[in-house]
Amino acid sequence: MNTLERIAKEMVVSGKGIIAADESAGTCQKRFEAVGVPCTEENRRAYRETLLSAPNLEQFVSGIILYDETIRQETSEGEAFTAVLEKKGILPGIKVDAGAKELALHAGEKVTEGLDGLRERLAEYRTLGAKFAKWRAVITIGKGIPSNACIDANAHAMARYAALCQEAGIVPIVEPEVLIDGEHSIEQCYEASVAILKRTFEELAGQGVALEGTILKASMVISGKKAAQQSTIEEVARETIRALKETVPAKLAGVVFLSGGQGDEQATEHLNAMNAMDKLPWPLSFSYARAIQNPVLKIWAENPNANVGKAQAALVFRSRMNSLATQGKYSSEMERERPY
Ligand code: G3H
Repeated sequence: MNTLERIAKEMVVSGKGIIAADESAGTCQKRFEAVGVPCTEENRRAYRETLLSAPNLEQFVSGIILYDETIRQETSEGEAFTAVLEKKGILPGIKVDAGAKELALHAGEKVTEGLDGLRERLAEYRTLGAKFAKWRAVITIGKGIPSNACIDANAHAMARYAALCQEAGIVPIVEPEVLIDGEHSIEQCYEASVAILKRTFEELAGQGVALEGTILKASMVISGKKAAQQSTIEEVARETIRALKETVPAKLAGVVFLSGGQGDEQATEHLNAMNAMDKLPWPLSFSYARAIQNPVLKIWAENPNANVGKAQAALVFRSRMNSLATQGKYSSEMERERPY
């Protein structure tokens, strides 16, 4: 087994998942504003230190995705964040895309940028300790969209990114997110998901990317947030698995999900339902940001000096619930043990 395969396997090892803590400064601003904390560099550092130094987190978490600023930061005691993670046996990852920008000539659609200079940035991130990377593409469902142009442009960019990562010895997480925003049905989400996944795997093959050393970060197949008819847990599990089985080659190292605006428990329920289904060709795990961090940020923000322990307990609890969900062993009754 080569290094990429070994790292990819470790990322989706049984009972563990990934925490996304790679919010850009802009996204962080929104999240901090919502809980009334000034989005200063020191506050971002202190909050991220709370996350990655949580005791016992490594029992449920295989990796944490960091942002450019975060991968360079240190604890209040002067220890590099990456060193803290290494000691715990948690893999440091890095978001490397430069964000989703308006796609020319295609109103309402986006293409993710960030390929320019990526080879050099990856080389630096590797020296900083990154073992894997993330690139997020955004697909919007609406009247007449997603267009083929949007799907092609994003799939191609993800494949170019993935090839550069593997060249640098870094495992790529390829994330084509079909947004939950809107009134669309679960059927429309299924169609858009199959279209982007199919094209993504064609492009990955075209660029020679080794799937054994690649992780897919997928959105679940689900009705839009404002859809008149909301999908059930069973429907989401069944349709997501159907879309994956139709498009994802069996040799892919693993699939992790984003939460995309789902509720915290809802995201756990969905993951659990999928893992309780028949045996699947790939491990299915989590790579949530909001569905894990929501209660953590809220508790921390109430008193950043005094609430570190309580915030960490919430983080470890949600991570444990999702860890159980990766094994199909979660039940909503377990929420009664919540420490928050
Ligand atoms: O790129 C998206 C994040 O890594 C996942 O965030 O779980 O809040 O959708 P989310």
